[in-house]
Amino acid sequence: MSFKVAIVGATGNVGREMLNILEERGFPVSEVVALASRRSQGTEVSFGDRTLKVRALDQFDFSDTDICIMSAGGNVSKEWSPKIGKQGCVVIDNSSAFRYDQDVPLIVPEVNPDAISLFTRKNIIANPNCSTAQLVVALKPLHDFATIKRVVVATYQSVSGAGKEGMDELFTQTRAVFVADQVDVKKFTKRIAFNVIPHIDVFL
Ligand SMILES: NC(=O)c1ccc[n+]([C@@H]2O[C@H](COP(=O)([O-])OP(=O)(O)OC[C@H]3O[C@@H](n4cnc5c(N)ncnc54)[C@H](OP(=O)(O)O)[C@@H]3O)[C@@H](O)[C@H]2O)c1
Repeated sequence: MSFKVAIVGATGNVGREMLNILEERGFPVSEVVALASRRSQGTEVSFGDRTLKVRALDQFDFSDTDICIMSAGGNVSKEWSPKIGKQGCVVIDNSSAFRYDQDVPLIVPEVNPDAISLFTRKNIIANPNCSTAQLVVALKPLHDFATIKRVVVATYQSVSGAGKEGMDELFTQTRAVFVADQVDVKKFTKRIAFNVIPHIDVFL
């Protein structure tokens, strides 16, 4: 059995890594489609030793696609995942958009694989933030053994979590600091170079 898989956000940091991992693991694909915004239409991304032409999300028909992995931010996901799911394609959403939706299972395969059956409600499966995903893999066996009542967590997230714009801003600001230039703030709420900011994405 093989699957037609679409990656939305294929030109982004996470999307490109998803393409690498699909290939490295030998995931059974019949076809892989790279999707992004119209800005990237016609550009190319790598999938193993192949090159995929990027297509525009808003012009793509998902009706014969089996799986769509969404990695283009919460707003794109909120708008598109339900529409894609309605076309019969199963959406695996990497953003925060559906993590609190009662009709969307929030899955970490090593922890709660059985909950995946709920995906049929909307044809969407959510996954948690990366810090949570790896944490619960370690907590699950401890919980099964001794029942955890409370966990206190502090995380320090990398700039790369804010995507390629975030990484570019760190680079530009770092250079500006070294040459005593003016430091411009665009993507983050404060200067990020040589700094830690207690603020990620939008406050929830
Ligand atoms: N669950 C996790 O563990 C985890 C970890 C890290 C990140 N994430 C999430 O993954 C997502 C992507 O992160 P990233 O670091 O890869 O960001 P990024 O490098 O900024 O890439 C964003 C991607 O989204 C595409 N995009 C933006 N607007 C679009 C639109 N209107 N229609 C179609 N595509 C659009 C961009 O395409 P263009 O090149 O055409 O602009 C690009 O491919 C975010 O939601 C982030 O929160 C999740």
